[in-house]
Order: sequence, then structure tokens, then C-alpha cells
Amino acid sequence: MIRKAVLPVAGFGTRCLPASKAIPKEMITVVDRPVIQYVVEEAVAAGIRDIVLITSASKSAIENHFDTHAELEASLEAKGKHALLESIRHIVPADVNVISVRQGEPLGLGHAVLCARPVIGDDEPFAVLLPDVLVDNAGSKTTGANDLGGMLAAFERTKAAQLMVEEVEWQHVERYGIVAPEGDAPAPGHAASLAGMVEKPARDAAPSNLAVIGRYALPGEIFSLLAETPPGAGDEIQLTDAIERLRTRHSVQAYRMQGVTYDCGQPLGYLEATLALGRRHPSLGEAFNALLSRYHQGD
Ligand code: G1P
Repeated sequence: MIRKAVLPVAGFGTRCLPASKAIPKEMITVVDRPVIQYVVEEAVAAGIRDIVLITSASKSAIENHFDTHAELEASLEAKGKHALLESIRHIVPADVNVISVRQGEPLGLGHAVLCARPVIGDDEPFAVLLPDVLVDNAGSKTTGANDLGGMLAAFERTKAAQLMVEEVEWQHVERYGIVAPEGDAPAPGHAASLAGMVEKPARDAAPSNLAVIGRYALPGEIFSLLAETPPGAGDEIQLTDAIERLRTRHSVQAYRMQGVTYDCGQPLGYLEATLALGRRHPSLGEAFNALLSRYHQGD
């Protein structure tokens, strides 16, 4: 089973400025926790035990968030604030390791993933989760489904690299890696082999409207391919290009997700995630719904 996941968090987050000027964009709050915490929780729920953060100099707040804060814990303990103490003590379960590796230069997503090579090695498969994207499985047809868990199980069964995809509007295909299924597009919750994929194609060059949403299951072999990948789209070393080369040797599949995504790499995505998750938050949801209807009546 895949137990390690790489989370690239080194980027500047320019689409979130000014919010992300002095804090990492991954630390912006959605309801009651930073967006990175949702992504780590998703990984942990899918069985991941080693989280490898690919960071840069301005991202220490992310490492601190997953570390012990002894002074704060002692203060909460002394004041008898046990519920708050629990909320900061168990951000990740005790058997989960959070490891960080610096990406010295911003050379692209492919380069960021390559930075995890010394930690993961060339013989072990691993997952990649892009923390800009929140995956929400609440509305999935299969109760309790976690798309990442489903995709990792598909990897386990087939040993083919897996890319999670969802249908996007045709006018947005140029924002994503777009896949070309070999035959029919897979049904939600299923995987199908790919005939190819292309990074951020123009609308009329896109082979489908199935977009890669930032969840991957990859064999360790991808590292040697990344090491040889020249800069591509945007003059960056693209993970998509290395996966395309992998596909010439082994089957690569698209796993069609059942849930929905929120693009927390930009402000409207944060707002949507806040609305969706706030409405069903266990302690804040009821009051938040009352607030929403008050604002709605005021229209
Ligand atoms: C990256 C990937 C792209 C994928 C996207 C999902 O692009 O390169 O294939 O569709 O994430 O968010 P980025 O958004 O980093 O430009």
C-alpha cells in the first residue's frame, strides 16, 4: 500500500495576494483550520503515514502548524482548556510523520516532486497531493468514500500510475493538465487507461474536458524520468511531461473522482469552500446557516 505522500507547498501563491504576503497561502483559513490541514487529513484518511512537505524559506508556518507548541500547550493545560488543547495536540495522529524538504529554486511542479527523491527513493510508489485543491467527498454516491483512498486502491490493484480527474467546463481546460482516455471516459469511482495527456492545452487542442485535479499515485520510477525532463509549459519542469514519458513504458490511468473540488489557489475557491464546509460544520454550521439566510433575506 502507498504510505507516503508528497505535498508541494513552496510556491509564492501570487493568486492569493495580499492575503498570502506574510503567511503561506496554504495557511489561509477555511472555516476553522488552514487549508493545508484539510489536505493532510484527506491523506491520513486514505492511509498515508509519511507526509513529505516540499517547502521554501517563507513557509515555516506550515511546519510549525504540524509541530508541537509546548508553550501554548502548557498554557492551555494550566487554564484547564482541555478541548482547545486536544484540538492542537492531535492535528495529525501520533503515527503520522511530517517531514519537510526545501525546494531551493522555484523550477516547477516536476522539480518540486523530484526534491522528495532522497526521502522516498526510486523503489517505492507514493502519492502527490497539490494543496491548492480541496477534495470534498460529502456528496459522493458511495457513503464514506474518500476518492484518494479509492485511487490508491486502484493503484494497488493495477500497479498503473493513477491521476485523479474531474470534468471541467470546456472554457477552463487551459488551466489544467487534460487527459485523453484510451476508450470511453471512466465512470465516477473508476479508472481507465490513458492514450495521453497534455499540460494546459488551448480549448481546440484539448483531447477531452477531463482535468487532472492534483492527486496522483506514482511509481518511484517517476523520479529518474523527472531528473531527465527539460523545462516545458511556462518554462517549468512539468510533472505532466514526466508522466507522459512514463506512459510510453507502462500503463497510466485516470481515476474519475466522485466528489467535488474547491480551488483554494484563488480567493473565490476559498469562499466556496468556506460556504460548503461552514454550512455543515458540527459546531458552527447551525449558526452559520442562520447567518446565511439573514443575508439572503437582505438581498
Ligand atoms: C498543476 C498541474 C496541472 C493540474 C493542476 C491542478 O498546475 O501541472 O496538470 O491540472 O495543477 O490544480 P498548476 O495549477 O500548478 O499550474
